[in-house]
Amino acid sequence: MLRTHTCGELRIEHTGQKVELSGWVQRIRDKGGMIWIDLRDRYGITQLIFQEGETNSEVIEKVREMGREFVINAKGEVKERYSKNDKIPTGDVEVFVEDIEILNSSKVPPFTIEDDTDGGEELRMKYRYLDLRRNVVRKNLVLRHKLAQATRRYLDGQDFLEVETPVLIKSTPEGARDFVVPSRMNAGEFYALPQSPQTFKQLLMVSGYDRYFQIVKCFRDEDLRADRQPEFTQIDCEMAFVEQEDILDTFEGMTKSLFKEVLNVDVEDFKRMPYSEAMKYYGSDKPDTRFDMKFVELNEVAQNKGFKVFDSAELVVGIVAEGCGDYSRKQVDELTKWVQRPQIGAKGLVYVKCNEDGSFKSSVDKFFSQDDLKGWAEKMNASAGDLLLILSGDTNTVRKQLNELRLEMGKRLGLRDNKVFAPLWVVDFPLLEWDEESERYHAMHHPFTSPKAEDISKLDTDPGAVRANAYDLVINGVEIGGGSIRIHDQKTQSLMFDHLGFTKEEAKKQFGFLMEAFEYGAPPHGGIAFGFDRLCALFGGAESIRDFIAFPKNNSGRDIMIDSPATIDRDQLHELHLKIEVEE
Ligand code: AMO
Repeated sequence: MLRTHTCGELRIEHTGQKVELSGWVQRIRDKGGMIWIDLRDRYGITQLIFQEGETNSEVIEKVREMGREFVINAKGEVKERYSKNDKIPTGDVEVFVEDIEILNSSKVPPFTIEDDTDGGEELRMKYRYLDLRRNVVRKNLVLRHKLAQATRRYLDGQDFLEVETPVLIKSTPEGARDFVVPSRMNAGEFYALPQSPQTFKQLLMVSGYDRYFQIVKCFRDEDLRADRQPEFTQIDCEMAFVEQEDILDTFEGMTKSLFKEVLNVDVEDFKRMPYSEAMKYYGSDKPDTRFDMKFVELNEVAQNKGFKVFDSAELVVGIVAEGCGDYSRKQVDELTKWVQRPQIGAKGLVYVKCNEDGSFKSSVDKFFSQDDLKGWAEKMNASAGDLLLILSGDTNTVRKQLNELRLEMGKRLGLRDNKVFAPLWVVDFPLLEWDEESERYHAMHHPFTSPKAEDISKLDTDPGAVRANAYDLVINGVEIGGGSIRIHDQKTQSLMFDHLGFTKEEAKKQFGFLMEAFEYGAPPHGGIAFGFDRLCALFGGAESIRDFIAFPKNNSGRDIMIDSPATIDRDQLHELHLKIEVEE
């Protein structure tokens, strides 16, 4: 080995020892008589010191040839530092270098390898291997590693078996577009990359592997956001001989254990909320429950007073921003503009300030009396000094808009602390979701999700009202995982395909293998998949999953370091039986 210690290892008790270190030159300070180098590796930084007159002049000469990011090897003696640095664990000591070797030189890096780098996103992604040298990114990958190991330990301890499933498969119905791979040996045919191992894990249940898991890459060709990548990782799990409660218990246990082991955080028992309640009180199926600010519906007290905007609305609904009653005109105008931005799309915002003297000032004073406004404040449980923010319109739209405003107010009021964790099971999702474009119902989760037994009779009469045995794990407003109890009998599965508008032939073509498998003794089963990248970002206190992935794609789905996707040459196309016409 070209080292006796790492750059993060030396402490005061090593004083006097002869050591050998290897690493990258983070910084050189040359004060003439004295030279210092900060030597960095994955484990930390150690200060090297050279002194003219004391250090061999050939060594000094070599040091003066070096630049940032040179790879070097240094031998010397550990000394106690004269002025200590309490910001780094090795800050009590330095290595007085006796011999040095340049293992490799380096071009000047295009950005500084520091926590606060001068490199923009594009540049950092192009040189991701340099970006990965930075402490902040490295810390995230270490966290990811710890989470993966802790997950494996936990699930192994519960008798889960890690089984790999194929990556070249046929389309899986998770609702996004597939990435496809042309087959050279089968002209005109394509594999699809899995959007999840859903069908395979169900087949494993039929095979009797009653507790399966896999930390697995999934691929979805969908629009990208901070919490979405085209290839991402799931902790994918399935269990046989279970009911919904068993799955929730098992994975609440796993999540709690990850919090404890990786962050040393004790989280309380997870709250539960039916989907319908989440939508009514938070306008979202992934409410951030770190703070309250629940929606209050105001139709009863705010309609039929002559204010047309409210009278014509399907829903009038508001939130209370505690202590914001003293917002200036400018501040409420700014909030109004905020909800009117195209991303939110509200037409306007009605506000009511609850003054300290018990009076009210609102943007709709023309239409409502002080008594009316008092009635609203009472219904909303508001106190003097609070600000009521009210939106109106079509129910689904207005709920979405108020959800955005609630989250924004939560942020502005400092209620979304990333060191606080509020896990929540959202349960009783609808089985089906109406799709305006195709004018038919789609499976909200996927077509293998079972309906609640007591709702099956509504499948024909009121399909939208049928609830599923489906659940999501939401933490701090992020959908961390989702799953369901599956249909395990062929009869219900065909019924489901009928309702999803699949003809018998289509269903057979796409899922015949699964339906056939169900005829050979499928046990009752269910499962869940966690978005592993999202879990890492949550644990790391970040919103974007990108810095928790070693080599992520940018917002256009490109890897700008390897410059992919890219064209392929004609021979390759020919071999794959493909002809490409690129649209101008
Ligand atoms: P679902 O589609 O809900 O369920 O996915 C499970 C979890 O995966 C994460 N996730 C993503 N993370 C990053 N980038 C993406 N593009 C992305 N898409 C999804 C989310 C989500 O909660 N087979 C089912 C699970 C099951 O029923 O057992 C499935 O894949 O955190």
